[in-house]
Amino acid sequence: MADIHKTQSWIGELPGKLRMIDQTRLPEKLVEIDCETVQQVWDAIKRLSVRGAPAIGVSAAYGTVIGMQGEMGLSRSDFNSKLTAVTNHLASSRPTAVNLFWALERMKKIAEETTLAEPAEVVTRLLAEARAIEFEDREMCAAIGQFGAELMPDDGGILTHCNAGGLATAGDGTALAVLFAAAEAGKQIHIFADETRPLLQGARLTSWECQQRNVPVTVICDSMAALVMREKKVHAVVTGADRIAANGDAANKVGTYSVAVLAKAHGIPFYVAAPSSTFDMSLASGNLIPIEERARDEISHGFGKQTVPDGVDVWNPAFDVTPAELIAGIITERGVISSVSTASVQAMIGSSRRH
Ligand code: MRU
Repeated sequence: MADIHKTQSWIGELPGKLRMIDQTRLPEKLVEIDCETVQQVWDAIKRLSVRGAPAIGVSAAYGTVIGMQGEMGLSRSDFNSKLTAVTNHLASSRPTAVNLFWALERMKKIAEETTLAEPAEVVTRLLAEARAIEFEDREMCAAIGQFGAELMPDDGGILTHCNAGGLATAGDGTALAVLFAAAEAGKQIHIFADETRPLLQGARLTSWECQQRNVPVTVICDSMAALVMREKKVHAVVTGADRIAANGDAANKVGTYSVAVLAKAHGIPFYVAAPSSTFDMSLASGNLIPIEERARDEISHGFGKQTVPDGVDVWNPAFDVTPAELIAGIITERGVISSVSTASVQAMIGSSRRH
């Protein structure tokens, strides 16, 4: 998928621009947009033209290059101030996915490591770092796919929530990389994609990716997950994550927690697939993960149709946190964390903070 329709790519050298699929237009239209200013990158992240934790990180890294490539004539101290302003602005786009902050920290570190270099040289290094973040994410997706595929049934249904595929990463995805690798290994799997209210990433994006890959998929309303599990059509659940705390509690698209509870009730293993860049070891538990709250009209006027009376209160948290005890395993690029706990997470990821 990533090679057929690249979720995002850097066009040119320096100066260059960030080209991305506008995911708000899928599945009706496959449209690409170009970002040439930091504000355009910020807006694209905010309105979910680019979304999914790793993809947001990659966009922010390239967004930093966009913000600095016109500033090569500044003194080094003014250049540093501008870099702080650019990264702070990009960091304000969405609060939950830690990959955003992780990527921006890596970009800031480049400037810290090159205090004696001219701005032009630092910008060259920033572009190389953004490319490295993109490349490493692609590699991490591939490794997650291989580790996760082994856990999947040889024949059976697998439910996923939201979109943790190629559109959400620089590679084949996290949860979907697992499912695509299982299918490529010859496993007879059938994917159930929760439609994922309110913005329908499952219905619009996950099913589109599965179709591109010729992997069988059925879209269900979120409220049908219990029924599909009860009728024994689902043998495993795999989702992505936006931020995983040190104890393994995992924030992902709102509704994931319900799916994990349902999986537990039906004796179905619930897996989270995520790269090490999604772990935030500075947070002891998921209670500390900041949860984005989005605009009322995503629920009251979803896709242009009013479905809630004017004046009625609406709450729109974009993510929820699945407690570690509901997670059968976290599939990372380094291996699978089973018996999820602070100790097992630390053993796989290390004890440092975000990276
Ligand atoms: O609001 P979104 O669409 O950015 O939410 C995305 C998710 O919840 C994904 O499951 C998560 O970022 C993992 S992507 C590999």
